[in-house]
Amino acid sequence: MKSKVGIIGTGMVGMSYAYSMVNQGTCEELVLIDINKEKTEGEAIDLNHGLSFAPRKMKIYSGDYSDLSDAALVCITAGPPPQEGETRLDTIHKSIAVMKNIISNIKTSGFDGIILVATNPVDIMTYAAWKLSGFDKTKVIGSGTTLDTARLRSALGEKLNINEKNIHAYVIGEHGDSQFVPWSYALCGPKPIYHFAAKNKGISFEELSEIEDEVRNIAYKIIKAKRATYYGIGMSLARITKAVLDNENSILSVSSYLDGEYGHDDVYISVPSVINADGVREVVDLNLDKEDKEKFDKSVAIMKENIAKLDL
Ligand code: 2OP
Repeated sequence: MKSKVGIIGTGMVGMSYAYSMVNQGTCEELVLIDINKEKTEGEAIDLNHGLSFAPRKMKIYSGDYSDLSDAALVCITAGPPPQEGETRLDTIHKSIAVMKNIISNIKTSGFDGIILVATNPVDIMTYAAWKLSGFDKTKVIGSGTTLDTARLRSALGEKLNINEKNIHAYVIGEHGDSQFVPWSYALCGPKPIYHFAAKNKGISFEELSEIEDEVRNIAYKIIKAKRATYYGIGMSLARITKAVLDNENSILSVSSYLDGEYGHDDVYISVPSVINADGVREVVDLNLDKEDKEKFDKSVAIMKENIAKLDL
């Protein structure tokens, strides 16, 4: 299959994702789809003008659902972003109406690739996309806490004065207020970050907890300051897309379907997962300690409570 990507929704998130992929040369072909055709045509022209400076040739155009039939991946970014004072979960009813329409159109198009969902509340919308599409669970992925994990690594890297690419720590659970960091699995290079905190070397336990809170709440600060977040999520989506198109077998904290892992099933939630051309090859089933297991169970319960509100 050629590396063709479709984007549903050409708002700030969709276009930041597109812009990241053009700059990184992620795919060969990019089709932009949105109900606002005129804007989408303008976006396609604008991106084409940047191709002289991009690392590879790319075919970029404004299209419609029928263009998805031979795409390898479609990313859904459409939907109402949380406004100031709203949580991601508060957008659930508006988002589901948009999602139902999109999935119905994707099914009609004959698309048979990987569905990547970014629309919030992302874990719930990914479950809805899976259920409504009838696709195999491995082929439907949510961006989940990929972005929160990047935020965590950046904060820890800065504090420890180590390049964030050497920080192997994950945010898991809901991409939202019940997310948390399983600290016993957080490493700086080969060393557990807990060892640094225990010796008060570069970081303290109190600072770990402050960083975890900051990561959980930073989107609210950005939304207050500039109404929405988009560059970070756009680059996270480009990262997940590359892992799929290049069949990387990379571990990313996406929203995956649990089928017994972590003691749960019939839910989408963010956990480290191995991503390749087939989507989620495998969920990395961490053995959480009692306290973290309680946090995870609580997050799953919130997801299930919200899924139950939907008529799927
Ligand atoms: C973010 O975390 C709001 O989900 C969006 O940036």
